[in-house]
Amino acid sequence: MIDDIDQLMAVMEASFDPHYREAWTRRQVEESLTLPSTYMLLVNAAGEPMGDGEIAAGFVLARQAADEVELLLIAVLPQHRGKRIGRRLLAQFIESARARSAAKVFLEMRSNNPAERLYRAAGFEQIGQRKDYYRTLTGATIDALTFAREV
Ligand SMILES: CC(C)(COP(=O)(O)OP(=O)(O)OC[C@H]1O[C@@H](n2cnc3c(N)ncnc32)[C@H](O)[C@@H]1OP(=O)(O)O)[C@@H](O)C(=O)NCCC(=O)NCCS
Repeated sequence: MIDDIDQLMAVMEASFDPHYREAWTRRQVEESLTLPSTYMLLVNAAGEPMGDGEIAAGFVLARQAADEVELLLIAVLPQHRGKRIGRRLLAQFIESARARSAAKVFLEMRSNNPAERLYRAAGFEQIGQRKDYYRTLTGATIDALTFAREV
């Protein structure tokens, strides 16, 4: 039987460019989800919460700490991009944080990720920068940018 983690991993494996080493392994995902503070959202190809028997087109992995929720990962299958699924997923993420009584949401991304446009459109603003935080497959370093918004 295909479970939710299988669905999430199928999107993960198709979505992240290995060059940036951002994708998590199944083991990392499973371990994170053993914590009650960590949760996932799965959406179908219409950007709606995934129902039984449907195939996931995108996911969010998130973690709550007190009144803040961090967006750990967001991804949409390459063949479904540009259809506003990412935008809808982000809106569902903010809604999930509100339902958990969070005051703030934040995320960290590598500088120059085109997803920045998506985050800014959803009301996120840059609040920090960590120099040389990521290291690519070829050893180059990339800054991490921290974005946040109120819920
Ligand atoms: C980021 C991502 C989830 C966006 O998904 P999507 O369903 O294509 O997003 P949307 O269709 O809702 O696009 C929202 C906006 O962001 C822009 N955008 C998003 N991803 C983009 C990309 N890779 N390249 C260029 N523009 C992008 C779109 O042009 C759109 O802007 P517009 O509404 O003004 O036209 C998807 O590109 C993805 O899975 N990327 C790989 C994983 C990744 O880098 N995740 C983020 C770090 S965890």
